[in-house]
Amino acid sequence: MRRMMILGLCFLLFSPFPLAFSERCHPQDKKALLQLKNDLNNPYILASWNPKEDCCDWYCVRCDEKTNRIYDLDISSSVPDPDVSGQIPPSVGDLPYLDLSGSIPSSLYQLPKLSSLQLDRNELTGSFGSFNKPGPYLILSHNQLSGSIPDSLGNLDPERIDFSRNKLEGDASMLFGSKKRTQTLDLSRNALEFDLSHLTFPKKSLIWLDLNHNKIYGSIPVALTTVENLQQFNVSYNRLCGEIPQGGRLQRFDEYSYLHNKCLCGSPLPPCNFKADI
Ligand SMILES: *[C@@H]1O[C@H](CO)[C@@H](O)[C@H](O)[C@H]1NC(C)=O
Repeated sequence: MRRMMILGLCFLLFSPFPLAFSERCHPQDKKALLQLKNDLNNPYILASWNPKEDCCDWYCVRCDEKTNRIYDLDISSSVPDPDVSGQIPPSVGDLPYLDLSGSIPSSLYQLPKLSSLQLDRNELTGSFGSFNKPGPYLILSHNQLSGSIPDSLGNLDPERIDFSRNKLEGDASMLFGSKKRTQTLDLSRNALEFDLSHLTFPKKSLIWLDLNHNKIYGSIPVALTTVENLQQFNVSYNRLCGEIPQGGRLQRFDEYSYLHNKCLCGSPLPPCNFKADI
């Protein structure tokens, strides 16, 4: 027993990791990040993620001043970067306090305090896993994500959702609702296919709704005229039909926000009886 203790003491005194006691990084977070790096195929952008160094000093990582837990991770490449690639791992569900969303590498679920995630402009492929907790930003644009958006994402309520320029398909109606606090919802350039007709919107918070280039059908709901601060709106290149509701801010957008649908009509497009008249 005593020998064991002496051995243990020697190990502590002569540990090859003498900084281990002074580093801020939580070991659980470090482990999760190293797993994430691995899941993303060890991209060059994460070269500074050296296990011998404090993870609070790593590139793209932000630790909370008080708790030292990682709350922000921004691995976005300014140009699509084949370096950051890999599947969005399904294990994300293991993180008890994860403040994000999406089905990003499962390793992310090991970061209990993470509150915002940016993985845009990478080469992520695969489909969504499940997300646990809401966070302010969920930005996964410019990737190669495919498959459908899980219903469970509807339980989260990020302020900013950007899934644009992926290959997502099927329903996205779970991301809409009058009780949400969404400010930005960008689903443009995917292959999403759902009925817009009866959806509702957060009246006060929504300022940006971009749905262009999908397969969205039905009509533009009257509820959209009640969105008070809509500043960007685009439903072009979908399969919408019927009269554009008049009122609210909907006529502040020009025809380019509405073009290339199945049969939308009414201002700012030509009147609905236009075709019948000629
Ligand atoms: C809407 O999207 C279409 C297609 O990408 C684009 O051509 C148009 O300029 C956009 N309109 C606005 C107002 O952003």
